[in-house]
Amino acid sequence: MSQDKPVNQAWGGRFGEATDAFVARFTASVRFDQRLYRHDIAGSIAHAEMLTRVGVLTQAERDAIVAGLTAIAAQIADGRFTWSEALEDVHMNIESALTAAIGTAGKKLHTGRSRNDQVATDIRLWLRDEIDAILAEITRLQQALVEVAEREADTIMPGFTHLQTAQPVTFGHHLMAWYEMLGRDHSRLIDCRKRLNRSPLGAAALAGTSYPIDRHHSAALLGFDGPTANSMDSVSDRDFAIEFCAAASLLMTHLSRASEELILWASAQFRFVDLPDRFCTGSSIMPQKKNPDVPELVRGKTGRVTGHLVALLTLMKGQPLAYNKDNQEDKEPLFDTADTLRDCLRAFADMVPALQVNRTAMRAAARAGYATATDLADYLVRRGLPFRDAHEAVGKAVAHGIASGRDLAELSLDELRVFAPTIASDVFAVLTLEGSVAARDHIGGTAPTQVRAAVAQARDGLARRAAPLQAQS
Ligand code: ARG
Repeated sequence: MSQDKPVNQAWGGRFGEATDAFVARFTASVRFDQRLYRHDIAGSIAHAEMLTRVGVLTQAERDAIVAGLTAIAAQIADGRFTWSEALEDVHMNIESALTAAIGTAGKKLHTGRSRNDQVATDIRLWLRDEIDAILAEITRLQQALVEVAEREADTIMPGFTHLQTAQPVTFGHHLMAWYEMLGRDHSRLIDCRKRLNRSPLGAAALAGTSYPIDRHHSAALLGFDGPTANSMDSVSDRDFAIEFCAAASLLMTHLSRASEELILWASAQFRFVDLPDRFCTGSSIMPQKKNPDVPELVRGKTGRVTGHLVALLTLMKGQPLAYNKDNQEDKEPLFDTADTLRDCLRAFADMVPALQVNRTAMRAAARAGYATATDLADYLVRRGLPFRDAHEAVGKAVAHGIASGRDLAELSLDELRVFAPTIASDVFAVLTLEGSVAARDHIGGTAPTQVRAAVAQARDGLARRAAPLQAQS
């Protein structure tokens, strides 16, 4: 090595010239992976503890390392730490600062490990914390949905298929549908967390290490359920990041669908809900405008999260075992996925309880769209008509109603009898919106009693979640 060409101290031994300045910038990750610093330091402390336990480090070296790393964590948290691109990534920045602070003991920290198992450990630890925060935010949104669903258990609105008025439902029932989607998202993330919670530490570069390490010990110190099984898989596996992005994409898809509904409902054509002003913005040219920016942005951000999932799948598809530098590209999509998801969940959890519900507009819309036509057909079936004939008769009655600008309930008994002579005066009870929703009185149905039962069950489930995550299956 020529003396006048400074090379990277961590790996420069065999290099004859310094890294090209552009290449140094191109290959460095510290500008984005520095956000792993807390988890990197936690992983290093666990590694040092383990090395001490097996006799590779002395107690004094361990003490110096732990004190040094703890001080560095505080410096970074206070913004007093100077990150250096020349030191490539978060791992080497911290290790170099440690050695500068405590001398030789710092140089021993990297015994029996590699940045390959180190970074795999860091991301798992970081993602585990993110998942916990996201789970809490999903729960907060679900709690909000349950509250509003209970309040609106009797509120009648049109239910849609093909975005055409189908049958009356209650607004509480609609919100509990959102609740169900989020419940599946929650359990998918719990599942992802379980699978990621294994420690790759000790896999070293790819083959393991010749030191007498205790992988169970470092895994336990970091709250992992145990060590990963295969060293080569350990350093190259990013399934957990892909699984997380897949669960996140689906969650965003759910939020996007809900956003689309809010945007429709807030329009002048629906007027089902009013979004509080604080969640909207105006137009610089059209004074009447109040735009539903927050749901629109959530809908829009769904694209980038799904994009990150595709990016990670594509990142991995051609990689031979074991670690490849490609893997450095896992971080930005993963970070942005977690950030975006947290922001969108937060926006929803804040917005849902603040929705102003226009019950009059919902009811008027349900009345206007012949939403009780199925109820009339079911009535005819109860009076002995085969369902297909009943369907045909009611279809004709609807056409008559459309032609004369009236709902089914506004037709006279004589008019209705033209289409089905078995109709009696008790028909008007089934043509009411309340009668229609109350009739769907079974598990999963829209009857207000069922919505209240679903709310009660949901509250039970949410209360059970307060138990520690590890205890959940
Ligand atoms: N910055 C790297 C990454 O994010 C850390 C691991 C680097 N390992 C290596 N052998 N170059 O993946």
